[in-house]
Amino acid sequence: MAPATRSFLTENALKDKKVCVFATNGGWLGHTFEDIKKMCPNAKFEEMLNVEFDEDVMRTSEKKVEEFINKIKA
Ligand SMILES: Cc1cc2nc3c(=O)[nH]c(=O)nc-3n(C[C@H](O)[C@H](O)[C@H](O)COP(=O)(O)O)c2cc1C
Repeated sequence: MAPATRSFLTENALKDKKVCVFATNGGWLGHTFEDIKKMCPNAKFEEMLNVEFDEDVMRTSEKKVEEFINKIKA
């Protein structure tokens, strides 16, 4: 994960919080989501979305992004 996200999660364990995570990458998510879950064992992870790019073209469909946003809004 990006260093700023790691710092935030180190300082805020998000205990009992509902958490929705998205990440961006150029084809390699790595273990970002697993790492975030391990860092916040008492958070409630609800939605997770990986937004994948190929150079400047977004490969994840806009529909998926909209679904993610609508689930959070609900
Ligand atoms: C130092 C660093 C190097 C990265 N290198 C790659 C890479 O080679 N390929 C790639 O697809 N993503 C790369 N990423 C993006 C990470 O996969 C991405 O940061 C992670 O999925 C979390 O998403 P976010 O930065 O949107 O929070 C890199 C991120 C960082 C911080």
